[in-house]
Amino acid sequence: MALLNILQFPDPRLRTRAKPVEVFDDNLATLVRDMFETMYEAPGIGLAATQVDVHRRLLVMDVSEDKDQSRVLINPELIETQGEEEMDEGCLSVPGYYETVRRAEKIRVRAQDVSGKVFEFDADGLEAVCIQHEMDHLEGKLFVDYISSLKRDRIRKKLEKQKKIAS
Ligand code: NI
Repeated sequence: MALLNILQFPDPRLRTRAKPVEVFDDNLATLVRDMFETMYEAPGIGLAATQVDVHRRLLVMDVSEDKDQSRVLINPELIETQGEEEMDEGCLSVPGYYETVRRAEKIRVRAQDVSGKVFEFDADGLEAVCIQHEMDHLEGKLFVDYISSLKRDRIRKKLEKQKKIAS
């Protein structure tokens, strides 16, 4: 297993639109394992392949308190959404910042597992928010896109400054 490097806003690679996963092989299984390790280590509740510079449609997540409910979604699609809800969100690619984002309250998701098998399930609450947030990454979208450009610029400048000091 290996820890993967997480891209940080405003890295332009985070703006890439991911392509579907077509091959369900050992390389995919290894990527999924590495993404879980990277997510748990960070620590975070979700990680999209885009964030580790792999531009394929997959994400890993675990919103449980005990970190024992790992879930991988490959080629995820929202097939139903219901209601609206606002929650404070953060992101491993925008470290240290939390902003309120409005999203669908309940969703029905169709995805494939690591062997390519299609499954569907319903999600709400934090799980629904996390799935929508990670699916945005696959479109090249970040949660800071939902806030004002003034605020977003402020975050961008601060993160760029931190990066300069760190490197
Ligand atoms: Ni994120």
